[in-house]
Amino acid sequence: MTKLIAGNWKMNGSLAANEALLSALAGGLPTALSSAPCDVAVCIPAPYFAQFQALAATMPALAAVALGAQDVSGQSAGAFTGEVSAAMLKDFACRYAIVGHSERRQYHGETDALVAAKAQQALAVGITPIVCVGETLAEREAGTTTEVVKRQLAAVIHANGHCISEIVLAYEPVWAIGTGKTASPEEAQAVHAVLRAQLAAATEHASRVKIIYGGSMNAANAAILLAQPDIDGGLIGGASLKVADFLSIVSAAAA
Ligand code: 13P
Repeated sequence: MTKLIAGNWKMNGSLAANEALLSALAGGLPTALSSAPCDVAVCIPAPYFAQFQALAATMPALAAVALGAQDVSGQSAGAFTGEVSAAMLKDFACRYAIVGHSERRQYHGETDALVAAKAQQALAVGITPIVCVGETLAEREAGTTTEVVKRQLAAVIHANGHCISEIVLAYEPVWAIGTGKTASPEEAQAVHAVLRAQLAAATEHASRVKIIYGGSMNAANAAILLAQPDIDGGLIGGASLKVADFLSIVSAAAA
């Protein structure tokens, strides 16, 4: 299947920095995508959506980059101060929304049920949720990795029924995020296979659900991770802010 490389800029960027990054990305993408197709997205802070749209209108190569959000409300509209609804994201032609990133679960107390509601809101307007699951270091050391990721995914399957085949699933071991420590290709593949099997029990279309890996993926390790049979792409934090590195990862995925 076509791989997906999605950058997660997290809370980084400015009007000037974004313009520089996106124009460099637009400049390098035609070469990076020359051998094979690859879906590319950038999940940027919501205040810059209009800037992305304006730049995309003047840089044809940015048509190859889908716009993504880093979060979405679990509610559809109303008195929820500070929240951004799925319909608002859709107004800016947003194609993806990350939900359940470990930083949201950890710093904002997001529960499995809330993450499932967020995925539901995104799907309802035709935005693909990138549902993040992953264990902490303590959970891995306690031998509960499988149990944790299955519990996190089960909540999303339960709330979304047959629409589950429309999600992108991201396995992001918390201990590998921003630490420079990557899961080995074998460790990542093992968890991806567990997740694929869980999806297969819920939908006959499990084989077409993209299961992407995130956690210190970079230009040096992308190719070997992406070569695993159940790793269908990457969710890239730090390296997505360095255009040359991000383009190398796209090239590895488009090989
Ligand atoms: P890093 O690539 O910086 O480890 O971040 C991964 C991540 O959290 C992507 O969502």
